[in-house]
Amino acid sequence: MPARLDAPLKVTGSAKYGVDHNFPGMVYGYVVVSTIANGEIESMDVTAAKSAPGVLAVYSPFDPLALAPVATPMLGETWVPLRDTEVAYVGQPIGFVVAETFEQARDAAMLVEVSYRERPALTSLEDGLDTAVEAAPGHTDAPPTLTVLEDGIDSIDDAFAASPVVVDATYHTAPQNHTPMEPHSAVAVWEDGTLTVYSGNQGSDLQAYELATALELDPSAVRALNPFVGGAFGGKGRTSAPAFLAAAASRALGKPVKASLTREQVFTATAGRAATVQRITLGAERDGTLVALRHDSWCSTDIARSFIEPTSHGTSREWYATRNLAISQKIVPLNLPPTTFMRAPGEAPGSFALESAMDELAEALGMDPIELRQRNNSLAPPGKDLQWSSKHLDECFRIGAERFGWSERAPRGRAEGDWLVGMGVAVAMFPALRFPASVGVTLNADDTADVGTSGADPGTGLLTVMAMVGAESLDIPAARITPRLGDSALPAGGMSGGSTATASAGTAIMAGAAQVIDELLALASAPGAPFDGEETTYADGRVHGATGSMTFGEVLRAVGRSSITAVGSTAPGEEMTKHSFSSFGAHFAEVRVHRLTREARVSRMLGVFDGGRVINPRAARSQLEGGMIWGVSAALHEGFEVEPSGRFANADLAGYLVPVNADIPEIDVQFVEYPDTLHNDLGARGLGEIGTVGVAAAVANAIHNATGIRVRHIPIRIEDLL
Ligand code: MOS
Repeated sequence: MPARLDAPLKVTGSAKYGVDHNFPGMVYGYVVVSTIANGEIESMDVTAAKSAPGVLAVYSPFDPLALAPVATPMLGETWVPLRDTEVAYVGQPIGFVVAETFEQARDAAMLVEVSYRERPALTSLEDGLDTAVEAAPGHTDAPPTLTVLEDGIDSIDDAFAASPVVVDATYHTAPQNHTPMEPHSAVAVWEDGTLTVYSGNQGSDLQAYELATALELDPSAVRALNPFVGGAFGGKGRTSAPAFLAAAASRALGKPVKASLTREQVFTATAGRAATVQRITLGAERDGTLVALRHDSWCSTDIARSFIEPTSHGTSREWYATRNLAISQKIVPLNLPPTTFMRAPGEAPGSFALESAMDELAEALGMDPIELRQRNNSLAPPGKDLQWSSKHLDECFRIGAERFGWSERAPRGRAEGDWLVGMGVAVAMFPALRFPASVGVTLNADDTADVGTSGADPGTGLLTVMAMVGAESLDIPAARITPRLGDSALPAGGMSGGSTATASAGTAIMAGAAQVIDELLALASAPGAPFDGEETTYADGRVHGATGSMTFGEVLRAVGRSSITAVGSTAPGEEMTKHSFSSFGAHFAEVRVHRLTREARVSRMLGVFDGGRVINPRAARSQLEGGMIWGVSAALHEGFEVEPSGRFANADLAGYLVPVNADIPEIDVQFVEYPDTLHNDLGARGLGEIGTVGVAAAVANAIHNATGIRVRHIPIRIEDLL
């Protein structure tokens, strides 16, 4: 079995993504987007567009498709296009042109004339800080404000007054877009009252539910398929505008409809990561022991306030043992595209602020940054009684320091020719979560087995993990397992998000396998069956009884069954009342800043991770390398440039900088492997999003070590280091 089952299909181009599907009579939709940041559409003249060659229909808020509002359990509302004439950002879907070819639809879309009643727009988080409002509870499971004070301390300010050393700094992080290789897109086929949609997403049962709600159909009338997803990162957690529009248009026209956002539209007609401003105040004893930690956050959100980037909810709340803690979260609704989950939501920008501030504190104390972190190692989240189930962060630092040569680090860096060389560290943490999931486990009469769930593999490696966990649970070689996912007709696997899929699907496979083996043993020893009345056990893919043993396929054939299936379902349970759960890691970065040109280049990176049991080492390593690259991107490259008009100046992959190979050195990924069976039976915690958490701070801290310049915003550019 290849280390990645889907790899040969993907690298040979034979993997079929959503828009790779074609059907007889298929027509093409093109999304029309707004050109103002705030206002109302007064009218849309579609006369020229409608009479353009090949055009079948032009939909708009004045001639809409039948789409109802959508709210999904656990995830809340999501925006559905063309339901009103309000425009809240540049690049918002406001129309949908359907034609016989893609080119015809695109040409006709250019002919749509839109009149707006424009309103002043707020497009900058910095400009809106004065008008920030308290984040409402309910956008995350953590309270937006929290204060924990030790006895005898009346306010967090008193705690700082009592601290011999105080560091107080404000950090800024740029808004970002997911920019998956596969644009948000769909092929929708309406036939005999049922809808089939091929569209990359993070959970096909959720997409089927959202489409059924929008089209006011019974969920059983919708089938969502996404066997391959070309990147998601949180940005395909909800149904995209092209999927809603293609689905409704397919029903209206009675034809298959294909629609895809253009690359530029991906930057606006989807949702991205918020911009943040974070003020961190740390108070410490002279030996580095934290007395008080305060983390005040402001984040951008869209006008509908659909998402709050939870920078201070997860990070400072849980990372360090501190006697006094205060966090707050304010939001600034802007006339910019919606914000949503994006790879390590909260932790990614939150860790830049917190881990930069810890570096500043280490400097103020004249202390080694690793020693400071170890001094404040938390055994449980402050204010909570529940200890971490398993935490080996100290070991991550110990192994990492040795491997990376941390002892060579000089307090003011060193010079190598024209390069100033510095080293930085940061902690990585990401909550270990699990969602309810169901997986069907089928034993076939030919001695093969299937494991199937509606969940998605957005490139993270779930497909291979399913085969591996299935093989282990059924005690047969993985080559005999066929994993299936990305089909809403399969048992509901929920969302591949929050670095949960291995733990969620994996435990459901274990449960399903145990059930189907019980069923097999019952069949094998039933009256008239090969092991009639015998005590039977299962091992090595075989049923063993007093009279001998048979493969499960032989048993099934003997009792006249072609297959048997059990659906295993698991969900977080009692363990949540006993421990706190998180994955941990230590990042090391070496950065070179050129003495004259001031360019910063990451020259070495190491991440040591404590994520419980590692199921597929290659996939896990690849997830973490990818996350670390994303961290370099955040630190040195990535961010929207927003014009005052609310238009993005760099809504393409030429201007929206991401690292290329030349920007990325060899990345060293190490694991400390302590299976966490207090969290789930499989013992695996998440190893996806944590890869990026802390990297931007490690890079910024290394730049400070090299140059003495403390940059408190990302991305860090040449002009910051002059
Ligand atoms: Mo997660 S934000 O769905 O990578």
